[in-house]
Amino acid sequence: MKIRTEHPHDHQEVFNLNYKAFGKREDESRLIERIRKSDNFIPGLSLVAELDRKIVGHLLISKATLKDGNEETEVLVLAPIAVNPEMQKSGIGSALIEEGLRRSKELEYGLVFLIGHPSYYPRFGFKPGRDYQFDLKQYNVPNDVFMVKELREGDLLKVSGELLYPESFFK
Ligand SMILES: CC(C)(COP(=O)(O)OP(=O)(O)OC[C@H]1O[C@@H](n2cnc3c(N)ncnc32)[C@H](O)[C@@H]1OP(=O)(O)O)[C@@H](O)C(=O)NCCC(=O)NCCS
Repeated sequence: MKIRTEHPHDHQEVFNLNYKAFGKREDESRLIERIRKSDNFIPGLSLVAELDRKIVGHLLISKATLKDGNEETEVLVLAPIAVNPEMQKSGIGSALIEEGLRRSKELEYGLVFLIGHPSYYPRFGFKPGRDYQFDLKQYNVPNDVFMVKELREGDLLKVSGELLYPESFFK
Protein backbone atom coordinates (compact mmCIF):
# COMPACT_ATOMS: atom_id res chain seq x y z
CA MET A 1 0.00 0.00 0.00
CA LYS A 2 1.30 3.41 -0.99
CA ILE A 3 0.25 6.86 0.23
CA ARG A 4 0.65 9.53 -2.43
CA THR A 5 -0.62 12.94 -3.52
CA GLU A 6 -3.95 12.84 -5.38
CA HIS A 7 -3.74 13.65 -9.11
CA PRO A 8 -6.57 15.04 -11.27
CA HIS A 9 -6.99 11.64 -12.95
CA ASP A 10 -7.90 10.19 -9.52
CA HIS A 11 -10.92 12.47 -9.04
CA GLN A 12 -13.57 10.04 -10.29
CA GLU A 13 -12.19 7.18 -8.21
CA VAL A 14 -12.01 9.42 -5.13
CA PHE A 15 -15.63 10.47 -5.72
CA ASN A 16 -16.72 6.82 -5.92
CA LEU A 17 -14.70 5.81 -2.85
CA ASN A 18 -16.24 8.53 -0.68
CA TYR A 19 -19.72 7.74 -2.01
CA LYS A 20 -19.27 4.12 -0.97
CA ALA A 21 -17.55 4.77 2.39
CA PHE A 22 -20.22 7.25 3.48
CA GLY A 23 -23.10 4.85 2.83
CA LYS A 24 -24.02 5.78 -0.75
CA ARG A 25 -24.17 9.47 0.06
CA GLU A 26 -22.71 12.11 -2.27
CA ASP A 27 -22.28 14.87 0.34
CA GLU A 28 -18.60 14.21 1.14
CA SER A 29 -17.68 13.63 -2.53
CA ARG A 30 -19.30 16.96 -3.42
CA LEU A 31 -17.56 18.66 -0.48
CA ILE A 32 -14.20 17.47 -1.83
CA GLU A 33 -15.07 18.87 -5.28
CA ARG A 34 -15.95 22.28 -3.79
CA ILE A 35 -12.79 22.42 -1.66
CA ARG A 36 -10.60 21.49 -4.66
CA LYS A 37 -11.98 24.50 -6.54
CA SER A 38 -11.50 26.89 -3.61
CA ASP A 39 -8.58 28.95 -2.32
CA ASN A 40 -8.48 26.68 0.71
CA PHE A 41 -7.24 23.71 -1.26
CA ILE A 42 -3.65 22.58 -0.72
CA PRO A 43 -2.81 20.06 -3.47
CA GLY A 44 -0.15 18.28 -1.41
CA LEU A 45 -2.68 17.60 1.35
CA SER A 46 -5.16 15.66 -0.75
CA LEU A 47 -3.82 12.14 -0.27
CA VAL A 48 -4.78 8.77 -1.63
CA ALA A 49 -3.92 5.28 -0.42
CA GLU A 50 -3.23 3.05 -3.41
CA LEU A 51 -3.14 -0.73 -3.44
CA ASP A 52 -2.72 -2.80 -6.61
CA ARG A 53 -3.32 0.38 -8.66
CA LYS A 54 -6.68 0.94 -6.98
CA ILE A 55 -7.53 3.80 -4.64
CA VAL A 56 -8.55 2.31 -1.30
CA GLY A 57 -8.43 5.45 0.86
CA HIS A 58 -8.52 9.23 0.65
CA LEU A 59 -7.80 12.07 3.07
CA LEU A 60 -8.25 15.79 2.60
CA ILE A 61 -6.72 18.49 4.79
CA SER A 62 -7.45 22.08 3.78
CA LYS A 63 -7.22 25.66 5.03
CA ALA A 64 -9.57 27.32 7.51
CA THR A 65 -9.46 30.41 9.70
CA LEU A 66 -9.20 30.91 13.41
CA LYS A 67 -10.69 34.27 14.42
CA ASP A 68 -9.94 36.00 17.69
CA GLY A 69 -11.30 39.54 17.68
CA ASN A 70 -9.53 41.27 14.81
CA GLU A 71 -6.82 38.67 14.63
CA GLU A 72 -7.01 35.84 12.10
CA THR A 73 -4.77 32.78 11.96
CA GLU A 74 -4.61 30.34 9.07
CA VAL A 75 -5.10 26.80 10.35
CA LEU A 76 -5.99 23.43 8.84
CA VAL A 77 -9.08 21.25 8.98
CA LEU A 78 -9.07 17.53 8.35
CA ALA A 79 -12.17 16.44 6.40
CA PRO A 80 -13.18 14.13 5.01
CA ILE A 81 -11.39 10.81 5.35
CA ALA A 82 -12.64 7.61 3.77
CA VAL A 83 -11.41 4.04 3.44
CA ASN A 84 -12.96 1.38 1.22
CA PRO A 85 -15.47 -0.41 3.53
CA GLU A 86 -14.04 -3.80 2.55
CA MET A 87 -10.60 -2.71 3.74
CA GLN A 88 -11.32 -0.80 6.91
CA LYS A 89 -9.60 -1.60 10.23
CA SER A 90 -6.37 -2.58 8.51
CA GLY A 91 -4.45 0.61 9.21
CA ILE A 92 -5.14 2.51 5.96
CA GLY A 93 -6.92 5.38 7.74
CA SER A 94 -4.07 5.65 10.25
CA ALA A 95 -1.45 5.68 7.50
CA LEU A 96 -3.31 8.49 5.69
CA ILE A 97 -3.69 10.56 8.86
CA GLU A 98 -0.05 10.12 9.88
CA GLU A 99 1.22 11.14 6.45
CA GLY A 100 -1.25 14.05 6.31
CA LEU A 101 -0.07 15.34 9.69
CA ARG A 102 3.59 14.90 8.73
CA ARG A 103 3.09 16.94 5.54
CA SER A 104 1.05 19.60 7.37
CA LYS A 105 3.87 20.06 9.84
CA GLU A 106 6.39 20.23 7.02
CA LEU A 107 4.30 23.04 5.47
CA GLU A 108 4.70 24.85 8.82
CA TYR A 109 1.07 24.92 9.90
CA GLY A 110 0.61 25.15 13.66
CA LEU A 111 -2.81 23.60 14.29
CA VAL A 112 -5.17 21.15 12.64
CA PHE A 113 -8.81 20.83 13.66
CA LEU A 114 -11.51 18.27 12.95
CA ILE A 115 -14.97 17.11 13.87
CA GLY A 116 -14.77 13.39 14.43
CA HIS A 117 -15.25 10.34 16.56
CA PRO A 118 -13.64 10.74 20.02
CA SER A 119 -12.62 7.09 20.12
CA TYR A 120 -10.54 7.32 16.92
CA TYR A 121 -8.63 10.60 16.67
CA PRO A 122 -7.04 10.96 20.15
CA ARG A 123 -4.59 8.19 19.20
CA PHE A 124 -3.05 10.66 16.73
CA GLY A 125 -2.75 13.36 19.39
CA PHE A 126 -6.06 15.17 18.85
CA LYS A 127 -7.55 16.81 21.97
CA PRO A 128 -10.91 18.46 22.68
CA GLY A 129 -10.67 21.99 21.25
CA ARG A 130 -12.82 23.59 23.92
CA ASP A 131 -10.42 22.32 26.62
CA TYR A 132 -8.10 24.97 25.15
CA GLN A 133 -8.99 28.46 23.95
CA PHE A 134 -10.86 27.31 20.86
CA ASP A 135 -14.51 27.49 19.97
CA LEU A 136 -16.75 26.24 17.19
CA LYS A 137 -20.18 27.74 16.61
CA GLN A 138 -20.92 26.77 12.99
CA TYR A 139 -21.61 23.16 13.96
CA ASN A 140 -23.48 22.23 17.10
CA VAL A 141 -21.31 19.31 18.23
CA PRO A 142 -20.35 17.97 21.68
CA ASN A 143 -17.06 19.07 23.22
CA ASP A 144 -15.22 15.78 22.71
CA VAL A 145 -16.09 15.70 18.96
CA PHE A 146 -14.49 19.07 18.14
CA MET A 147 -10.78 18.31 18.25
CA VAL A 148 -7.44 20.00 17.69
CA LYS A 149 -3.91 18.78 17.21
CA GLU A 150 -0.83 20.88 17.80
CA LEU A 151 1.72 20.72 14.98
CA ARG A 152 3.96 23.53 16.16
CA GLU A 153 5.06 23.33 19.77
CA GLY A 154 3.41 25.98 21.91
CA ASP A 155 0.53 26.88 19.57
CA LEU A 156 -2.06 25.03 21.63
CA LEU A 157 -1.52 27.45 24.50
CA LYS A 158 -0.46 30.49 22.50
CA VAL A 159 -3.19 30.62 19.83
CA SER A 160 -6.92 31.04 20.47
CA GLY A 161 -10.18 31.85 18.72
CA GLU A 162 -13.25 30.59 16.95
CA LEU A 163 -12.69 28.08 14.16
CA LEU A 164 -14.39 29.16 10.94
CA TYR A 165 -14.88 26.49 8.31
CA PRO A 166 -14.82 28.09 4.83
CA GLU A 167 -17.85 28.49 2.55
CA SER A 168 -17.11 25.25 0.67
CA PHE A 169 -18.34 23.33 3.72
CA PHE A 170 -21.81 24.86 3.54
CA LYS A 171 -22.80 25.15 -0.12
C1 LIG B 1 -12.93 6.30 9.79
C2 LIG B 1 -12.15 5.48 8.78
C3 LIG B 1 -11.53 6.42 7.77
C4 LIG B 1 -11.04 4.74 9.52
O1 LIG B 1 -10.22 4.08 8.57
P1 LIG B 1 -9.59 2.64 8.88
O2 LIG B 1 -8.65 2.33 7.79
O3 LIG B 1 -10.69 1.67 9.13
O4 LIG B 1 -8.84 2.96 10.23
P2 LIG B 1 -7.62 2.18 10.88
O5 LIG B 1 -7.54 0.80 10.35
O6 LIG B 1 -6.43 3.03 10.81
O7 LIG B 1 -8.08 2.18 12.39
C5 LIG B 1 -9.08 1.31 12.79
C6 LIG B 1 -9.63 1.78 14.10
O8 LIG B 1 -10.53 2.86 13.88
C7 LIG B 1 -11.75 2.61 14.52
N1 LIG B 1 -12.82 3.24 13.77
C8 LIG B 1 -13.05 3.16 12.46
N2 LIG B 1 -14.13 3.89 12.14
C9 LIG B 1 -14.56 4.46 13.26
C10 LIG B 1 -15.64 5.32 13.59
N3 LIG B 1 -16.50 5.77 12.66
N4 LIG B 1 -15.78 5.67 14.84
C11 LIG B 1 -14.93 5.24 15.79
N5 LIG B 1 -13.91 4.44 15.56
C12 LIG B 1 -13.73 4.05 14.30
C13 LIG B 1 -11.85 1.11 14.49
O9 LIG B 1 -12.75 0.65 15.45
C14 LIG B 1 -10.42 0.71 14.80
O10 LIG B 1 -10.20 0.84 16.18
P3 LIG B 1 -9.16 -0.09 16.96
O11 LIG B 1 -7.82 0.17 16.34
O12 LIG B 1 -9.26 0.38 18.36
O13 LIG B 1 -9.65 -1.48 16.69
C15 LIG B 1 -13.03 4.44 8.05
O14 LIG B 1 -13.64 3.64 9.00
C16 LIG B 1 -14.11 5.04 7.15
O15 LIG B 1 -13.88 5.28 5.96
N6 LIG B 1 -15.31 5.23 7.68
C17 LIG B 1 -16.44 5.73 6.88
C18 LIG B 1 -16.28 7.19 6.59
C19 LIG B 1 -16.16 8.02 7.87
O16 LIG B 1 -16.94 7.87 8.79
N7 LIG B 1 -15.13 8.91 7.90
C20 LIG B 1 -14.85 9.69 9.08
C21 LIG B 1 -15.63 10.94 9.13
S1 LIG B 1 -14.94 12.23 8.12
